[in-house]
Order: sequence, then C-alpha cells, then structure tokens
Amino acid sequence: MILNGSTFSSYRQSPTVSGSLPNGTVVSSNSARCHRARTGDTSGRQSPFEGLPGTVGSVLCVGGNRMSESFVHDPVMLAEILGVFSAMNTGVFIDCTLGGAGHTSAILSAHADMKVLGIDQDDIALSSARSVLDDAGLGGRATLRRARFDEVSRIVAEEGVQSVAGVLFDLGVSSPQFDVAERGFSYRFDAPLDMRMDRSRDFSAHNVVNEYDVEALIDMLRTNADERHAVRIARAIVAARPIRTTSELSEVVSSAIPAPARRRGGHPAKRTFQAIRIEVNSELAILPGAIRDAISLLAPGARLAVLTYHSGEDRIVKSVMRSAETGDCTCPVGLPCACGAQRTVSRVRVSREAGKEELARNPRASSARLRVVEKLPRTEAI
Ligand SMILES: C[S@@+](CC[C@H](N)C(=O)[O-])C[C@H]1O[C@@H](n2cnc3c(N)ncnc32)[C@H](O)[C@@H]1O
Repeated sequence: MILNGSTFSSYRQSPTVSGSLPNGTVVSSNSARCHRARTGDTSGRQSPFEGLPGTVGSVLCVGGNRMSESFVHDPVMLAEILGVFSAMNTGVFIDCTLGGAGHTSAILSAHADMKVLGIDQDDIALSSARSVLDDAGLGGRATLRRARFDEVSRIVAEEGVQSVAGVLFDLGVSSPQFDVAERGFSYRFDAPLDMRMDRSRDFSAHNVVNEYDVEALIDMLRTNADERHAVRIARAIVAARPIRTTSELSEVVSSAIPAPARRRGGHPAKRTFQAIRIEVNSELAILPGAIRDAISLLAPGARLAVLTYHSGEDRIVKSVMRSAETGDCTCPVGLPCACGAQRTVSRVRVSREAGKEELARNPRASSARLRVVEKLPRTEAI
C-alpha cells in the first residue's frame, strides 16, 4: 500500500522508465536507461523534462539517447547493515527512510519470512520504492507509508505491528532528490528555492532565505553546517532579498565568502545549501525523539541501526543511544550506581565506516557513520 503516491520510477533498474508528471501527463520511454549514482551525479546531466512548464519535482531520467549508462544504485554500507540484522527471522522490520528501497529490498531478500514497514516523507521516493519492490517480487511483504519518521510510533500502531524485529534510519537526502533540478536542493541547477522532501508542506527554502532575520540565519548556518562564514553569509542574504532561485542564492553566498576561502573545500555555497535543507525538513530537530521512539518500539533482542552523513546528526544519535545505554547515570565513574538509572539497550560494536572497496565505488559512503544498539531482554539497573 502506498499513501499519497503517484506512479514513478526514478530509482529502478528497468529498461522501461515511466512516470506521471504532477499535471497528470504520463511519460514513458521503452529504451530509456537511467544512471542514478547515490553520490550525486556532478556531471550536470539534465532530464529532457527539466524546464518544461508544470514539471516541478517530476522526471528524473527519461530518454535513453541522452543517458546511456546503466542504472547504479548503491545502498550505503549494505553488507554491514545486512550483518547487523542477520539474526532476525520473524516480525516486522521498520525502514524509517525507505528512499529507493535499496536496503529494504536486500533485507526482504535475505529474510524470507519477514515483512517490512517502509516510511518516507517523499511521495516520489515511495512510488519509486513500490516499483522496485514489486518488480523484485517483494512487494507483497512491504507496507509503505508516507510519513515523517517522528510519527513512527503512530504508524506502527496503526499498522497493528506486534513485534518490531529491527529499525533502520539511513538519514539525509537521496540522489534522486538532489538530481532533480526543480526540487531546488542543489546549487548545480537553477531552480526555485524549494528543498522540501515532503512536497505537501508549505514551508520551503524560499521562506528560510527570505524571512529569517540575520541572527536566525547565523544560528542556522552554524548549527546545521558548521559554516565559518555564517555572519557574512547571513548579512549578504538579508541585503540581497528577495532571492528567488538556487542560482541567485549560490551567487550571493559565493560573493560573501572571502576569495581565499572560496577556492578551498568544495563549492562555496555547499554548507549554506546543506544548512537550509536541514532547516526546511527539520532534520536535526525531530531526530532525537524519533531515535528514542524507535528504541522503545524494539522487541527484546531487536536492533536499531542508524547511518548518519554529518557530524551534527552523528552527535545526536550518539547522545540518544548513550542515554538509553547508561540510563543517564550521574554517579562517579568506577562506583556502583546509586542514582537509580536504568538502561534499555546495549551498544553493538560494528564497523563505523564503509570499507575501502565501497568508498572507491561510492563517494557518498565516505561521510557515512554507522551506530547500532540492541534492546535488552528487560530494562536493567546500571
Ligand atoms: C538516504 S535516502 C535512503 C535510501 C535508502 N536507504 C535506500 O537504500 O534506497 C533517505 C530517505 O529518507 C527520507 N527522509 C529523510 N528524512 C525523513 C524524515 N524525517 N521522515 C521520513 N523520511 C525521511 C528521504 O526522503 C529519502 O528518501
């Protein structure tokens, strides 16, 4: 089941690519083949539908003549994730960031008796995932829901899930979100300022860029992206209003950064775009509660795995997991606990980073960090 989905096949490996534009136009190309590296394709290839009226958030790759490479979709640290969940055999696995269903497909293939509840707030991702799962013959064991992952407890209850066998968060943005110009996530394409993963929400990058005051912009740039030039960038943004497009924003940010710094460390607007995307989608704000909820939902012995892609996310995940592992015990190290703290999970030691082979194949994996906890059979005193 997909709620609020529309036919779309951006992620799938298929000789037939078809989809429907938001204006209802159905598109297809029997010979089209898509290249969708998760890392973000920096070649600047564009869909032939980009720039057409009424195609906001629409087609990722159609038209085999323009894109001849074969499809590449590489779920990050897949071998490690499969290893983390290898002991599961019954119950329901919750994928809180379904995306293109890369991890979920592998989990379902490896565990023939299990079902997956897949959550994503992006209607296009959900539709793509549905196609991928159905094409692989796995769709009958997958329930897909459009929701934000801080709603996971409600969704699990609504779906009548009795036993949660494992939970995965693979945070951040997927390549198809970055690579569709009209969605406004990337400084590589000129587009209206948007960056909403959930396109039904009103709040977009346009609101952040044109409505936040200088102090709020500085705070956002520092908190969400550790931007060293936050003050200069924030002042430049406010002075340049109204800013309507990604190109205008990119230009304003680049001009605000001192020339020597502009030549170092990638695109000068990279951190600003990251900070705004995180703000628009409340990525850091909802994370602690969602991780806590996921821990509560786990059956005894079940595991939670979280893949993060920047230090702010990783700090939050580490802190929430540590809190569940130590019960926030305040007693001096080395002395028995006297404060009554209780713990609910134990830490599972895993490879924190992707291996060399994956890093060579998939640059996006270079920033990935994995953390895993396992639910204890019962709550324990420290
Ligand atoms: C990195 S991709 C996941 C890719 C997936 N693991 C795979 O193998 O195909 C992250 C996905 O999580 C979704 N997402 C990010 N934040 C979310 C949130 N708060 N609630 C629900 N979905 C979210 C995004 O829309 C995106 O599709």
